[in-house]
Amino acid sequence: MMESIESEIRVDQVRLAVVGAGLRGQRYARRAVATGAGRPVAVAEPDEGRRSRFATEFGLDPGAVFRDWRDLVAAGRLADAAIVATPDREHTGPAVALADQGYHLMLEKPMAPTEQEAIRITEAVERNKVIFALCHVLRYTSYSRTVKQLLDDGRIGTLTSVQHLEPVGWWHQAHSFVRGEWSNSRTSSSMLLAKACHDIDWLLYLVGRPVARVSSFGRLSHFRAAARPEGAADRCLDCPLEPTCPYSAPRLYLGCLGDPAKEFWPLSAVTTEHTEAGVRAALRDGPYGRCVYASDNDAVDHQVVTMEFADGATCSFTMTAFSPFELRKTRLFGTHGYLEGDGDRLRLVDFRTGEEEIIGTGGTGDLEADHTDADEMLTDTFLAAVAANDPARLSSDAATSLAGHQVVWAAERARRTGTVVLL
Ligand SMILES: NC(=O)c1ccc[n+]([C@@H]2O[C@H](COP(=O)([O-])OP(=O)(O)OC[C@H]3O[C@@H](n4cnc5c(N)ncnc54)[C@H](O)[C@@H]3O)[C@@H](O)[C@H]2O)c1
Repeated sequence: MMESIESEIRVDQVRLAVVGAGLRGQRYARRAVATGAGRPVAVAEPDEGRRSRFATEFGLDPGAVFRDWRDLVAAGRLADAAIVATPDREHTGPAVALADQGYHLMLEKPMAPTEQEAIRITEAVERNKVIFALCHVLRYTSYSRTVKQLLDDGRIGTLTSVQHLEPVGWWHQAHSFVRGEWSNSRTSSSMLLAKACHDIDWLLYLVGRPVARVSSFGRLSHFRAAARPEGAADRCLDCPLEPTCPYSAPRLYLGCLGDPAKEFWPLSAVTTEHTEAGVRAALRDGPYGRCVYASDNDAVDHQVVTMEFADGATCSFTMTAFSPFELRKTRLFGTHGYLEGDGDRLRLVDFRTGEEEIIGTGGTGDLEADHTDADEMLTDTFLAAVAANDPARLSSDAATSLAGHQVVWAAERARRTGTVVLL
Protein backbone atom coordinates (compact mmCIF):
# COMPACT_ATOMS: atom_id res chain seq x y z
CA MET A 1 0.00 0.00 0.00
CA MET A 2 2.68 2.51 1.04
CA GLU A 3 5.04 1.75 -1.86
CA SER A 4 2.78 3.33 -4.48
CA ILE A 5 2.44 6.63 -2.63
CA GLU A 6 5.71 8.26 -3.63
CA SER A 7 5.01 8.32 -7.35
CA GLU A 8 1.52 9.75 -6.93
CA ILE A 9 2.20 12.44 -4.37
CA ARG A 10 4.66 14.16 -6.70
CA VAL A 11 1.95 14.50 -9.32
CA ASP A 12 -0.60 16.17 -7.10
CA GLN A 13 0.52 18.62 -4.50
CA VAL A 14 -2.18 18.94 -1.88
CA ARG A 15 -2.84 22.52 -0.74
CA LEU A 16 -3.07 22.65 3.03
CA ALA A 17 -4.61 24.98 5.57
CA VAL A 18 -2.91 24.48 8.93
CA VAL A 19 -5.11 25.23 11.92
CA GLY A 20 -2.94 25.55 15.01
CA ALA A 21 0.71 26.10 14.09
CA GLY A 22 2.00 24.53 17.30
CA LEU A 23 4.35 21.59 17.67
CA ARG A 24 2.12 19.13 15.79
CA GLY A 25 0.97 21.52 13.09
CA GLN A 26 4.56 22.50 12.31
CA ARG A 27 5.72 18.91 12.20
CA TYR A 28 3.07 17.78 9.72
CA ALA A 29 3.52 20.90 7.55
CA ARG A 30 7.27 20.33 7.35
CA ARG A 31 6.78 16.71 6.35
CA ALA A 32 4.35 17.70 3.58
CA VAL A 33 6.90 20.12 2.17
CA ALA A 34 9.81 17.71 2.61
CA THR A 35 8.16 15.07 0.44
CA GLY A 36 6.60 17.58 -1.93
CA ALA A 37 3.25 15.92 -1.35
CA GLY A 38 1.65 18.98 0.15
CA ARG A 39 2.09 22.71 0.52
CA PRO A 40 0.72 24.93 3.30
CA VAL A 41 -1.17 27.81 1.68
CA ALA A 42 -3.01 29.14 4.74
CA VAL A 43 -2.62 29.18 8.51
CA ALA A 44 -4.77 30.05 11.51
CA GLU A 45 -2.83 30.60 14.73
CA PRO A 46 -3.53 33.04 17.59
CA ASP A 47 0.06 33.18 18.87
CA GLU A 48 1.67 36.02 16.96
CA GLY A 49 5.21 34.65 17.05
CA ARG A 50 4.18 31.19 15.88
CA ARG A 51 1.89 32.64 13.23
CA SER A 52 4.51 34.90 11.68
CA ARG A 53 7.27 32.27 11.85
CA PHE A 54 4.98 29.78 10.14
CA ALA A 55 3.95 32.31 7.47
CA THR A 56 7.59 33.13 6.76
CA GLU A 57 8.80 29.52 6.77
CA PHE A 58 6.18 28.46 4.25
CA GLY A 59 6.04 31.70 2.22
CA LEU A 60 2.33 32.27 2.80
CA ASP A 61 0.34 35.01 1.13
CA PRO A 62 -0.45 37.60 3.88
CA GLY A 63 -4.12 37.34 2.96
CA ALA A 64 -4.09 33.67 3.97
CA VAL A 65 -2.68 34.20 7.46
CA PHE A 66 -5.34 34.26 10.20
CA ARG A 67 -5.49 34.63 13.96
CA ASP A 68 -8.23 32.10 14.54
CA TRP A 69 -9.85 29.17 12.73
CA ARG A 70 -13.10 31.19 12.54
CA ASP A 71 -11.33 33.82 10.39
CA LEU A 72 -10.03 31.08 8.11
CA VAL A 73 -13.54 29.70 7.75
CA ALA A 74 -14.92 33.19 7.05
CA ALA A 75 -12.48 33.54 4.16
CA GLY A 76 -14.08 30.62 2.28
CA ARG A 77 -12.30 27.50 1.14
CA LEU A 78 -8.62 28.22 0.44
CA ALA A 79 -7.11 24.74 0.31
CA ASP A 80 -7.83 21.09 -0.51
CA ALA A 81 -7.32 19.84 3.01
CA ALA A 82 -6.89 21.13 6.54
CA ILE A 83 -4.63 19.91 9.29
CA VAL A 84 -6.41 20.67 12.57
CA ALA A 85 -3.80 20.64 15.34
CA THR A 86 -5.41 22.93 17.87
CA PRO A 87 -5.63 22.08 21.62
CA ASP A 88 -7.96 19.20 22.56
CA ARG A 89 -10.94 21.41 23.44
CA GLU A 90 -10.65 23.35 20.20
CA HIS A 91 -11.11 20.45 17.74
CA THR A 92 -14.85 20.27 17.17
CA GLY A 93 -15.48 23.84 15.98
CA PRO A 94 -12.86 23.91 13.23
CA ALA A 95 -13.37 20.25 12.24
CA VAL A 96 -17.12 20.65 11.69
CA ALA A 97 -16.88 24.07 10.00
CA LEU A 98 -14.06 23.02 7.68
CA ALA A 99 -15.73 19.72 6.76
CA ASP A 100 -18.84 21.74 5.90
CA GLN A 101 -16.69 23.77 3.51
CA GLY A 102 -15.46 20.61 1.83
CA TYR A 103 -11.95 20.49 3.31
CA HIS A 104 -10.52 17.00 3.70
CA LEU A 105 -9.40 16.70 7.30
CA MET A 106 -6.41 15.47 9.21
CA LEU A 107 -7.50 15.98 12.81
CA GLU A 108 -5.35 15.61 15.87
CA LYS A 109 -6.39 13.12 18.53
CA PRO A 110 -8.42 12.99 20.65
CA MET A 111 -11.27 13.72 18.25
CA ALA A 112 -13.02 15.80 20.91
CA PRO A 113 -13.36 15.84 24.69
CA THR A 114 -16.95 14.56 24.67
CA GLU A 115 -18.87 11.87 22.85
CA GLN A 116 -21.48 14.37 21.61
CA GLU A 117 -18.78 16.47 19.95
CA ALA A 118 -17.08 13.45 18.39
CA ILE A 119 -20.45 12.40 16.96
CA ARG A 120 -20.89 15.91 15.49
CA ILE A 121 -17.50 15.64 13.80
CA THR A 122 -18.29 12.18 12.43
CA GLU A 123 -21.64 13.40 11.09
CA ALA A 124 -20.02 16.43 9.44
CA VAL A 125 -17.38 14.24 7.78
CA GLU A 126 -19.97 11.77 6.53
CA ARG A 127 -22.45 14.47 5.45
CA ASN A 128 -19.79 16.20 3.34
CA LYS A 129 -18.08 12.98 2.18
CA VAL A 130 -14.65 14.40 2.96
CA ILE A 131 -11.57 12.26 3.55
CA PHE A 132 -10.79 12.05 7.25
CA ALA A 133 -7.76 10.89 9.18
CA LEU A 134 -7.54 11.07 12.93
CA CYS A 135 -3.88 11.34 13.93
CA HIS A 136 -3.68 7.88 15.44
CA VAL A 137 -0.13 7.75 14.17
CA LEU A 138 0.64 4.36 15.78
CA ARG A 139 -1.42 2.67 13.09
CA TYR A 140 1.02 3.81 10.42
CA THR A 141 4.34 2.44 11.68
CA SER A 142 6.00 -0.48 9.94
CA TYR A 143 5.89 -2.23 13.34
CA SER A 144 2.08 -1.98 13.49
CA ARG A 145 1.65 -3.07 9.91
CA THR A 146 3.86 -6.11 10.55
CA VAL A 147 1.92 -7.13 13.67
CA LYS A 148 -1.40 -6.67 11.87
CA GLN A 149 -0.21 -8.71 8.89
CA LEU A 150 1.01 -11.57 11.10
CA LEU A 151 -2.36 -11.67 12.87
CA ASP A 152 -4.33 -11.44 9.61
CA ASP A 153 -2.18 -14.23 8.14
CA GLY A 154 -3.20 -16.45 11.05
CA ARG A 155 0.36 -16.92 12.23
CA ILE A 156 -0.78 -17.33 15.85
CA GLY A 157 -4.18 -18.84 15.06
CA THR A 158 -7.15 -17.14 16.66
CA LEU A 159 -6.24 -14.32 18.98
CA THR A 160 -7.65 -15.05 22.42
CA SER A 161 -6.04 -12.48 24.67
CA VAL A 162 -3.76 -9.46 24.70
CA GLN A 163 -1.56 -7.85 27.32
CA HIS A 164 -0.48 -4.30 26.51
CA LEU A 165 1.65 -1.76 28.37
CA GLU A 166 1.95 1.97 27.75
CA PRO A 167 5.04 3.03 29.73
CA VAL A 168 4.35 6.76 29.83
CA GLY A 169 7.61 7.44 31.65
CA TRP A 170 8.26 9.34 34.86
CA TRP A 171 9.48 12.62 33.39
CA HIS A 172 6.95 12.56 30.52
CA GLN A 173 4.16 12.18 33.05
CA ALA A 174 5.55 15.11 35.05
CA HIS A 175 5.91 17.22 31.90
CA SER A 176 2.57 16.61 30.20
CA PHE A 177 0.21 15.25 32.85
CA VAL A 178 1.33 16.93 36.08
CA ARG A 179 2.66 20.35 35.09
CA GLY A 180 1.62 20.59 31.46
CA GLU A 181 -1.30 20.94 29.12
CA TRP A 182 -2.98 17.59 29.89
CA SER A 183 -2.66 17.72 33.68
CA ASN A 184 -6.21 18.71 34.49
CA SER A 185 -9.37 17.13 33.10
CA ARG A 186 -11.30 20.39 33.52
CA THR A 187 -9.11 22.12 30.93
CA SER A 188 -8.16 19.15 28.72
CA SER A 189 -9.56 15.63 29.04
CA SER A 190 -9.04 12.42 30.99
CA MET A 191 -5.57 10.89 30.81
CA LEU A 192 -7.07 7.85 29.13
CA LEU A 193 -8.50 10.02 26.37
CA ALA A 194 -5.51 12.33 26.08
CA LYS A 195 -2.84 9.65 26.09
CA ALA A 196 -4.31 6.20 25.72
CA CYS A 197 -6.90 6.83 23.01
CA HIS A 198 -3.94 5.80 20.81
CA ASP A 199 -3.62 2.49 22.63
CA ILE A 200 -7.31 1.66 22.64
CA ASP A 201 -7.57 2.49 18.94
CA TRP A 202 -4.48 0.39 18.21
CA LEU A 203 -5.74 -2.58 20.21
CA LEU A 204 -9.12 -2.47 18.46
CA TYR A 205 -7.32 -2.26 15.12
CA LEU A 206 -5.25 -5.37 15.92
CA VAL A 207 -8.04 -7.44 17.43
CA GLY A 208 -10.50 -6.39 14.72
CA ARG A 209 -13.63 -7.18 16.72
CA PRO A 210 -16.01 -4.93 18.66
CA VAL A 211 -15.66 -4.55 22.41
CA ALA A 212 -18.54 -6.01 24.43
CA ARG A 213 -17.62 -5.12 28.03
CA VAL A 214 -15.07 -2.93 29.72
CA SER A 215 -13.85 -2.28 33.25
CA SER A 216 -11.14 -0.03 34.60
CA PHE A 217 -9.28 0.94 37.77
CA GLY A 218 -6.76 3.68 38.37
CA ARG A 219 -6.14 6.90 40.23
CA LEU A 220 -3.78 9.72 40.95
CA SER A 221 -1.67 8.18 43.70
CA HIS A 222 1.61 10.04 43.77
CA PHE A 223 1.59 13.53 42.24
CA ARG A 224 -0.49 15.21 44.94
CA ALA A 225 -0.01 17.14 48.15
CA ALA A 226 -0.29 14.04 50.37
CA ALA A 227 2.88 12.60 48.82
CA ARG A 228 4.86 15.83 49.07
CA PRO A 229 8.17 15.26 50.87
CA GLU A 230 8.72 17.33 53.95
CA GLY A 231 10.65 20.51 53.22
CA ALA A 232 9.78 20.62 49.50
CA ALA A 233 9.25 24.11 48.04
CA ASP A 234 6.46 25.08 45.64
CA ARG A 235 8.99 25.58 42.82
CA CYS A 236 12.00 23.46 41.93
CA LEU A 237 14.25 26.52 41.73
CA ASP A 238 13.63 27.17 45.44
CA CYS A 239 13.63 23.57 46.58
CA PRO A 240 16.35 22.10 48.82
CA LEU A 241 15.26 18.60 47.73
CA GLU A 242 15.53 19.33 44.00
CA PRO A 243 18.91 17.61 43.43
CA THR A 244 17.57 14.29 44.68
CA CYS A 245 14.03 14.54 43.29
CA PRO A 246 13.32 12.34 40.24
CA TYR A 247 10.97 15.03 38.95
CA SER A 248 13.44 17.94 39.05
CA ALA A 249 12.41 20.47 36.40
CA PRO A 250 15.89 22.08 36.10
CA ARG A 251 17.44 18.66 35.52
CA LEU A 252 14.88 17.81 32.86
CA TYR A 253 14.73 21.07 30.94
CA LEU A 254 18.30 22.35 31.24
CA GLY A 255 19.28 18.88 30.07
CA CYS A 256 17.44 19.48 26.79
CA LEU A 257 19.68 22.36 25.75
CA GLY A 258 21.97 21.46 22.87
CA ASP A 259 19.89 18.48 21.72
CA PRO A 260 17.74 19.58 18.72
CA ALA A 261 15.14 16.83 19.23
CA LYS A 262 14.71 17.62 22.92
CA GLU A 263 14.71 21.34 22.25
CA PHE A 264 11.75 20.78 19.90
CA TRP A 265 10.07 18.57 22.49
CA PRO A 266 9.65 18.80 25.42
CA LEU A 267 11.50 22.13 25.73
CA SER A 268 9.44 24.13 23.19
CA ALA A 269 6.37 23.68 25.35
CA VAL A 270 8.25 25.35 28.22
CA THR A 271 9.91 28.31 26.50
CA THR A 272 10.89 29.64 23.10
CA GLU A 273 14.16 30.94 24.57
CA HIS A 274 16.49 27.98 24.44
CA THR A 275 19.27 29.26 26.69
CA GLU A 276 20.03 28.57 30.34
CA ALA A 277 18.65 32.01 31.29
CA GLY A 278 15.52 31.42 29.18
CA VAL A 279 14.84 28.04 30.75
CA ARG A 280 15.43 29.32 34.28
CA ALA A 281 13.08 32.28 33.67
CA ALA A 282 10.34 29.90 32.47
CA LEU A 283 10.84 27.64 35.49
CA ARG A 284 10.74 30.66 37.81
CA ASP A 285 7.33 31.88 36.62
CA GLY A 286 5.75 29.28 34.36
CA PRO A 287 3.81 26.06 35.02
CA TYR A 288 6.73 23.77 34.21
CA GLY A 289 8.74 24.98 37.24
CA ARG A 290 6.10 23.91 39.76
CA CYS A 291 6.66 21.18 42.31
CA VAL A 292 4.96 17.99 41.09
CA TYR A 293 3.34 17.73 44.51
CA ALA A 294 1.95 21.30 44.38
CA SER A 295 0.38 21.51 40.94
CA ASP A 296 -3.31 21.68 39.96
CA ASN A 297 -3.31 18.26 38.29
CA ASP A 298 -5.93 15.55 38.49
CA ALA A 299 -4.71 13.21 35.73
CA VAL A 300 -4.34 9.62 36.93
CA ASP A 301 -0.78 8.35 37.21
CA HIS A 302 -1.67 4.70 36.66
CA GLN A 303 -4.69 3.00 35.17
CA VAL A 304 -5.68 -0.44 33.93
CA VAL A 305 -8.42 -1.16 31.41
CA THR A 306 -9.76 -4.64 30.76
CA MET A 307 -11.84 -5.38 27.71
CA GLU A 308 -13.85 -8.35 26.58
CA PHE A 309 -14.46 -8.58 22.85
CA ALA A 310 -17.63 -9.83 21.20
CA ASP A 311 -16.19 -13.34 20.68
CA GLY A 312 -14.87 -13.63 24.25
CA ALA A 313 -11.27 -12.59 23.53
CA THR A 314 -9.84 -10.45 26.33
CA CYS A 315 -7.35 -7.65 26.70
CA SER A 316 -5.66 -6.06 29.68
CA PHE A 317 -4.04 -2.69 29.22
CA THR A 318 -1.82 -0.87 31.72
CA MET A 319 -0.81 2.77 31.49
CA THR A 320 1.69 3.96 34.08
CA ALA A 321 3.81 6.99 34.87
CA PHE A 322 6.26 4.89 36.85
CA SER A 323 8.39 3.50 34.08
CA PRO A 324 11.15 4.58 31.74
CA PHE A 325 9.86 6.58 28.74
CA GLU A 326 9.83 3.73 26.26
CA LEU A 327 8.01 2.14 23.38
CA ARG A 328 4.84 0.25 24.18
CA LYS A 329 5.10 -3.47 24.92
CA THR A 330 2.53 -6.03 23.81
CA ARG A 331 1.93 -9.76 24.16
CA LEU A 332 -0.61 -11.46 21.91
CA PHE A 333 -1.82 -14.93 22.80
CA GLY A 334 -3.29 -17.06 20.00
CA THR A 335 -4.60 -20.61 19.73
CA HIS A 336 -1.63 -21.66 17.55
CA GLY A 337 1.09 -19.27 18.60
CA TYR A 338 2.40 -16.41 20.69
CA LEU A 339 3.61 -13.01 19.55
CA GLU A 340 5.34 -10.41 21.67
CA GLY A 341 6.70 -7.04 20.66
CA ASP A 342 8.65 -4.23 22.26
CA GLY A 343 7.55 -1.62 19.72
CA ASP A 344 10.42 -2.55 17.42
CA ARG A 345 11.32 -6.24 17.42
CA LEU A 346 8.82 -9.11 17.43
CA ARG A 347 9.17 -12.64 18.78
CA LEU A 348 6.82 -15.27 17.42
CA VAL A 349 6.52 -18.78 18.82
CA ASP A 350 4.63 -21.29 16.64
CA PHE A 351 2.91 -23.99 18.75
CA ARG A 352 2.82 -26.41 15.79
CA THR A 353 6.61 -26.55 15.45
CA GLY A 354 7.79 -25.07 18.74
CA GLU A 355 9.98 -22.80 16.67
CA GLU A 356 10.75 -19.26 17.60
CA GLU A 357 11.22 -16.47 15.09
CA ILE A 358 12.61 -12.98 15.70
CA ILE A 359 11.18 -10.45 13.29
CA GLY A 360 12.69 -6.99 12.82
CA THR A 361 10.20 -4.36 11.70
CA GLY A 362 12.52 -1.62 10.50
CA GLY A 363 11.98 0.54 13.56
CA THR A 364 14.81 2.14 15.45
CA GLY A 365 13.68 1.20 18.93
CA ASP A 366 14.09 4.88 19.74
CA LEU A 367 10.80 6.34 20.90
CA GLU A 368 11.22 9.84 19.52
CA ALA A 369 12.54 8.61 16.19
CA ASP A 370 9.69 6.14 15.91
CA HIS A 371 7.12 8.82 16.76
CA THR A 372 8.57 11.00 14.02
CA ASP A 373 8.45 8.08 11.61
CA ALA A 374 4.80 7.43 12.56
CA ASP A 375 3.90 11.12 12.13
CA GLU A 376 5.55 11.11 8.74
CA MET A 377 3.84 7.92 7.58
CA LEU A 378 0.45 9.29 8.60
CA THR A 379 1.10 12.60 6.78
CA ASP A 380 2.25 10.78 3.65
CA THR A 381 -0.73 8.43 3.69
CA PHE A 382 -3.26 11.22 4.27
CA LEU A 383 -1.82 13.36 1.47
CA ALA A 384 -1.75 10.38 -0.87
CA ALA A 385 -5.37 9.59 -0.03
CA VAL A 386 -6.39 13.18 -0.78
CA ALA A 387 -4.30 13.35 -3.96
CA ALA A 388 -5.86 10.14 -5.24
CA ASN A 389 -9.29 10.91 -3.76
CA ASP A 390 -9.08 7.46 -2.20
CA PRO A 391 -10.02 7.24 1.49
CA ALA A 392 -9.33 3.49 1.47
CA ARG A 393 -5.61 4.24 1.70
CA LEU A 394 -6.16 5.29 5.29
CA SER A 395 -6.54 2.56 7.86
CA SER A 396 -9.46 4.20 9.68
CA ASP A 397 -12.33 6.56 8.98
CA ALA A 398 -14.31 8.85 11.28
CA ALA A 399 -16.75 6.12 12.36
CA THR A 400 -13.86 3.79 13.31
CA SER A 401 -12.19 6.53 15.34
CA LEU A 402 -15.47 7.39 17.02
CA ALA A 403 -15.98 3.72 17.99
CA GLY A 404 -12.50 3.65 19.59
CA HIS A 405 -13.21 6.83 21.52
CA GLN A 406 -16.50 5.36 22.73
CA VAL A 407 -14.55 2.52 24.32
CA VAL A 408 -12.34 5.10 26.05
CA TRP A 409 -15.37 6.95 27.44
CA ALA A 410 -16.92 3.67 28.55
CA ALA A 411 -13.68 2.73 30.35
CA GLU A 412 -13.62 6.09 32.12
CA ARG A 413 -17.24 5.59 33.18
CA ALA A 414 -16.30 2.13 34.47
CA ARG A 415 -13.37 3.57 36.45
CA ARG A 416 -15.38 6.40 37.96
CA THR A 417 -18.39 4.27 38.88
CA GLY A 418 -16.61 1.02 39.77
CA THR A 419 -18.78 -0.91 37.33
CA VAL A 420 -18.47 -3.08 34.25
CA VAL A 421 -19.81 -1.10 31.29
CA LEU A 422 -21.55 -2.91 28.44
CA LEU A 423 -21.14 -1.55 24.93
N1 LIG B 1 -0.98 12.35 17.49
C1 LIG B 1 -0.15 12.44 18.50
O1 LIG B 1 0.61 11.54 18.80
C2 LIG B 1 -0.14 13.71 19.33
C3 LIG B 1 0.97 14.05 20.10
C4 LIG B 1 0.94 15.25 20.83
C5 LIG B 1 -0.18 16.07 20.78
N2 LIG B 1 -1.25 15.70 20.04
C6 LIG B 1 -2.46 16.55 19.96
O2 LIG B 1 -2.21 17.57 19.00
C7 LIG B 1 -2.93 18.76 19.36
C8 LIG B 1 -1.97 19.92 19.38
O3 LIG B 1 -0.92 19.63 20.29
P1 LIG B 1 0.47 20.45 20.26
O4 LIG B 1 1.42 19.68 21.11
O5 LIG B 1 0.84 20.79 18.86
O6 LIG B 1 0.01 21.76 21.05
P2 LIG B 1 0.52 23.25 20.82
O7 LIG B 1 0.01 24.03 21.96
O8 LIG B 1 1.97 23.26 20.52
O9 LIG B 1 -0.26 23.70 19.48
C9 LIG B 1 -1.62 24.04 19.44
C10 LIG B 1 -1.73 25.36 18.70
O10 LIG B 1 -3.10 25.68 18.47
C11 LIG B 1 -3.23 27.06 18.55
N3 LIG B 1 -4.61 27.49 18.74
C12 LIG B 1 -5.30 27.63 19.90
N4 LIG B 1 -6.54 28.10 19.65
C13 LIG B 1 -6.63 28.27 18.31
C14 LIG B 1 -7.67 28.75 17.45
N5 LIG B 1 -8.83 29.18 17.95
N6 LIG B 1 -7.44 28.79 16.11
C15 LIG B 1 -6.25 28.37 15.61
N7 LIG B 1 -5.23 27.91 16.39
C16 LIG B 1 -5.43 27.86 17.72
C17 LIG B 1 -2.34 27.42 19.75
O11 LIG B 1 -2.00 28.81 19.79
C18 LIG B 1 -1.14 26.52 19.50
O12 LIG B 1 -0.11 27.15 18.76
C19 LIG B 1 -3.62 18.45 20.69
O13 LIG B 1 -4.94 18.08 20.47
C20 LIG B 1 -2.81 17.27 21.22
O14 LIG B 1 -3.54 16.44 22.11
C21 LIG B 1 -1.24 14.56 19.31
